Amino acid sequence: MDNEDAVVHIKTFNKKGWGVGSSSAVPGAVIEVIGALPSEEVLVELGRKRRRCCKGLLKQVIVPSSSRVTARCIHVPQCGGCVWQQIDYDQQVKLKQVKLASIVGALCSEGVMQPIIPCDSPWAYRNKMEFSFSENKAGEKFLGLIIAGSRGHVLNLEECHLVSPWFIDVLKRVRNWWNESDLKAYRLDDSGALRTLILREGKRTGDKLIMLTVSGNPTYALKERDIKEFLSAVASDVRTERVSVYLRIQQAIRGSPTQFFEIHLCGPDHLLETCRVNEEEFTFKISPSSFFQPNTAQAEKLYAAARNMIEGKKKHILDLYAGIATLGIVCASRAEKVTSIELNPYAVFDGESNIETNGISNVHIVCGDVGKILAALKLRDDWVAPDLVIVDPPRTGLDPAALEVLKEIASQEILYISCNPVTQVANIHELALAGYSLKKLQPVDQFPHTIHLETIALLQRT
Ligand SMILES: C[S@@+](CC[C@H](N)C(=O)[O-])C[C@H]1O[C@@H](n2cnc3c(N)ncnc32)[C@H](O)[C@@H]1O
Repeated sequence: MDNEDAVVHIKTFNKKGWGVGSSSAVPGAVIEVIGALPSEEVLVELGRKRRRCCKGLLKQVIVPSSSRVTARCIHVPQCGGCVWQQIDYDQQVKLKQVKLASIVGALCSEGVMQPIIPCDSPWAYRNKMEFSFSENKAGEKFLGLIIAGSRGHVLNLEECHLVSPWFIDVLKRVRNWWNESDLKAYRLDDSGALRTLILREGKRTGDKLIMLTVSGNPTYALKERDIKEFLSAVASDVRTERVSVYLRIQQAIRGSPTQFFEIHLCGPDHLLETCRVNEEEFTFKISPSSFFQPNTAQAEKLYAAARNMIEGKKKHILDLYAGIATLGIVCASRAEKVTSIELNPYAVFDGESNIETNGISNVHIVCGDVGKILAALKLRDDWVAPDLVIVDPPRTGLDPAALEVLKEIASQEILYISCNPVTQVANIHELALAGYSLKKLQPVDQFPHTIHLETIALLQRT
């Protein structure tokens, strides 16, 4: 039986940035519509009703919002990559500012919240993208991004305006290679070989990195011929350009942590990227599994804004969740000494090299878990209590051990950088119990056309 259509009046957004409304066709139900905007009247195909909620597939915008623009991409609104491409960029920024204010709530006193630093160009800004391989029961192959609201279904991506055109060129070449091979996409029952394709780019240098991730299950291991053919498919320009190609084996054994083994196939073993922070230029080496901010142009503004929040010269800055030591290096001139701490050993190797390449003599990077390393460092005789701690944790925020040790260290200031204001605000509430208050909140839009936002919070202990 065909699903029923309904006219829905959209009132607000849900947490994922989809329109939410109601319809007289399904009284009392909350209808979530990907791609619809508040104040719009839209025609949708209704999905299955679960409790009092159902999804609506957008078929037609009957009365558009004044913020609606024509999306550039053919995959809007199906693709989970861009939820807000159909909203005028200036309006996206306003929406993010309002949302941030509602998350921060009473923590933000008068004058604390700064206007979002927007992107100069909201297109082709990403320097990294991870694409997934998938196959349906009929053996149809998919390589691209996950479909919005689906349980991991993959969209065969034909275009993407968040990345440089070469990403799509390589994606198409990999798709052709896959079609000509007898390789299967990885499945959750641990069958199949192909998992993901990661593409990265030095936006300022033109360096490229291509990494194919395959299953560690030996039954599905790639043969030498498969690898050779993959290489010739993706790296035809290797002799004229700096293109790094990696094969990564992902070993998932039930009951043990997932392990990754990288095999360097050709080209340089890393990317180089440069960042201009105010008038200074920094060069960073990035290994395939090291973190780097996904939008280079906005990373430059983020680092400049973070550094500008540091007043005077500090005795000791701690740079926690340091990645390849970018913040430690950029802020080195604001301290007598900087200690960076990072868990990923590859990023630590990059960090050591970056400290040297940028001619920095007062930054030292340590490998390990923030909570454990700090607990040990502060017992040492040569421990210098930090006057500023910079934290830039993953989306999940600070773990309880890290929060505890931060409270014990009790630095005068904390500069908390986050890509998830929800966990950041929860952690700030915890830190408020230890005497910290929020003095400044600077949002930076690193992720146009998505609902995500980067924020820098300056906390001071009273
Ligand atoms: C959001 S990135 C920030 C990187 C860096 N500050 C930058 O701007 O490029 C978070 C980093 O924290 C690291 N990390 C995650 N958990 C950690 C832990 N428990 N201890 C130390 N580092 C951790 C990750 O490997 C990643 O490099």
